[in-house]
Amino acid sequence: MFKLFSNQNENSPSQPKRGRVVSLMNQKGGVGKTTMAYNLLHALHAEGHKVLGIDMDPQFNFSLLFGIQNPQKSIHHLLVNSIRELRALHSDALLSEVIVTNERGIDMIPAGQELSGFELTVAGINAPRQLILKKFIEKNNLLDHYDYIVIDGPPTLGLLVVNILCACDGVLFPFIPDAFSEQGLQNIHDVLMDIEDMGIVQSPKILGYIPNLFEGRRKKSREDFESIKNRFSDAHIFEPFNNRAHLAKSVASRKSVFDYEAQDFRQLQGQFRDMVESVENQLRQ
Ligand SMILES: Nc1ncnc2c1ncn2[C@@H]1O[C@H](COP(=O)(O)OP(=O)(O)OP(=O)(O)O)[C@@H](O)[C@H]1O
Ligand SMILES: [Mg+2]
Repeated sequence: MFKLFSNQNENSPSQPKRGRVVSLMNQKGGVGKTTMAYNLLHALHAEGHKVLGIDMDPQFNFSLLFGIQNPQKSIHHLLVNSIRELRALHSDALLSEVIVTNERGIDMIPAGQELSGFELTVAGINAPRQLILKKFIEKNNLLDHYDYIVIDGPPTLGLLVVNILCACDGVLFPFIPDAFSEQGLQNIHDVLMDIEDMGIVQSPKILGYIPNLFEGRRKKSREDFESIKNRFSDAHIFEPFNNRAHLAKSVASRKSVFDYEAQDFRQLQGQFRDMVESVENQLRQ
């Protein structure tokens, strides 16, 4: 086992710290899950937290932001290796070799295209298929080592999504406040209810909804936003992120908003700092 992640409690009388797992989810594509995951990871890091990103999307956009393109060994191999029944499919992928660290000292476990076959690969196992990611995190003591794990989810509903929701303590929902977003949010809500009903894990806390790509100058956008606010009034609704070319450009350059000094980015930095504060407050027990 990778020594870095050995249980810190073994030789130390002090309690190990227990990190928290946060995911960015929405069944709808292109709503900003990866953008928010990447910047939240950097915002948590800027606040002094030890952080790990996990890419759980077979499109591997989160990994691309770390400069990793379709790696030979990815989260898929680590998850398969963690299932005893799938011994025949095990590879020599080691966590220590799969984790990459970017120039700012932020760790991430990348995904590759093969993750799209995850559901099929694990279809026949007897162990609970919904808990593979959760068990993987536990077996490797990742929460003793990291303060926060941020998971970028795929734009689907299915076993990957159920695994993410079962593994995380809190979930954030980026969405575009338009007439179409309500159904996507409702669907993922239903998955959360299903997890609650399964009764095998506590379902994650809804940390809030993140209105993104907001066109505040348009009356229709404001109206749609108000209607969604009323519909999902059970959780925190963050200040909207406006549709801003400089945010898209920063992501395309694999930079976080904290890499820039310009006034345009100051406001975004403040919004991500507020997100960190809210996540910390809600997950601190
Ligand atoms: N507030 C914003 N202003 C301008 N562009 C944005 C904003 N948020 C995200 N984008 C851009 O929108 C596109 C989609 O964002 P992103 O990839 O984060 O969405 P996603 O939900 O992860 O998509 P997918 O479901 O395909 O994984 C990207 O090109 C991103 O740079
Ligand atoms: Mg994405």
